[in-house]
Parts: sequence; structure tokens; C-alpha cells
Amino acid sequence: MSAKDVIIALDFPTESETLAFLDQFPAGEKPFVKIGMELYYAEGPAVVRALKDRGHKIFLDLKLHDIPNTVRRAMAVLSRLDVDMVNLHAAGASEMMRAALEGLTRPDGTRPLLIAVTQLTSTGPAALKDELLIQTPMAETVLSYAKNAASSGLDGVVCSPLEAALVKERCGERFLTVTPGIRFAGGDAGDQKRIMTPEKAGKSGCDYIVVGRPITQDANPVAAYRRAMREFLG
Ligand code: C5P
Repeated sequence: MSAKDVIIALDFPTESETLAFLDQFPAGEKPFVKIGMELYYAEGPAVVRALKDRGHKIFLDLKLHDIPNTVRRAMAVLSRLDVDMVNLHAAGASEMMRAALEGLTRPDGTRPLLIAVTQLTSTGPAALKDELLIQTPMAETVLSYAKNAASSGLDGVVCSPLEAALVKERCGERFLTVTPGIRFAGGDAGDQKRIMTPEKAGKSGCDYIVVGRPITQDANPVAAYRRAMREFLG
């Protein structure tokens, strides 16, 4: 069974800004956090270790996509950083996904959760058809990539909260859905288009919601985080 949780997207350019943000939380409250490309490329593995030492669970969102051997070796390095969740592009295909799992698995048999990105939400139907030359409709493509990820042994996919229930239906209840595009009722959508509230996401088969600006840009981030947890967990 999955442990439902809210993951805060730490989309900050530096470690010092990240720590200043996290310092607003009381010492005993340690949200699950996401480190993306911006922060990781700026600060490297040191920022992962710093947040781990502070007691946070970490989703390292680096979306690997390369030949199987390279991904296997890179995943072994990320696994040694002792993160809790990592991801890759399902477009790398099954052999790459299986290699990633091998690389991630530690000598004691444990490993971080491995999640696949199916199609980026920024890829529209026109780009899918005219540039990627994929004639299959978007929803079917996403579900097919999710099934490839499931049959390769991965733990779940990143998807829109609007797709979570369908992914569960096709790939099984235990296949995890990690969903960005979350906004509070009445909140600012920003550049996200297909959005859902934490409460509705909680009832729609989302295991983890990834929330960035509705928490990081709020005047009271701790209150916003607690609100997201309360509404999501019900
Ligand atoms: O600020 P906001 O809540 O929109 O942040 C969502 C986070 O999830 C960002 O870090 C963004 O890069 C990430 N993400 C997303 N949509 C995807 C994949 C990742 O918004 N399809």
C-alpha cells in the first residue's frame, strides 16, 4: 500500500534560499521534498545530503533518459545518495527502465522508488503527431507508456491528477501516481492548465501530490503545506 503524502517542489535557485524556506517549518516537521534540475545542477549532491541530514524524504526529479548502461550507472550513483524517489523518461523504453532498476538496487536489496515520466504535460497533441511522429492519441500513448513502465517493474508514473484513476485502472491499484498540477480552490493556476485541488486529488487515486508555488509562494508556507496535507489526506 502506498503512503499518501504531499511533496513540496523546492524550485529554488540556490541551497541558501532552499534552507531559508525550510527553516520556516518547526524542527519536528519534515515535509517530503522534491529537488529538480535547477537546484541540483546549481548545488549538486551536496544539497541532497544537506536535506537528507535535516531528515527530509527526497524525490530527486532529474528525469533520466539515455542508453541503458549509462542510466544503470547513473542510477547507482543516485541510489548511493540515499534518496527516496527518482525518475526517468519511459520513452527510453523497457530495456532502459530495467537497467535503471538494476542500478538503483542497493547491495542490501533496498532501492528508491522509481517513477516514469510518460509524455511531458508541455507536449501537446500537435507536437506529438507532427514532431514526435506518434499518431496514437495522447491519452492512449500515456497509458501505453505507463503499462510499459509497470511491466518493466517500475513503481509508478508522473501524471496529471485527471489521469490518475485511469492509470490505476489499467496498471493496478498498487502502481503509484505522482501528480503535479495541484492548486487550492480559488488559487492562482499560474502556467498549469489541467489542475485539481488537493482534496479532489486525494479522492481521485493520486498517491503523491507535488505542490510547488501554492506552498512556496504563499505568505505563510507552513500553513499552506498543512492545508494541502489536511485536504489531501482527508
Ligand atoms: O509550482 P507548481 O505547483 O506548478 O510546481 C509543480 C512542480 O511539478 C514543478 O517542479 C514542475 O516542474 C513539476 N512538474 C509539473 N508537471 C509535470 C512534471 C513535473 O508541473 N508534468
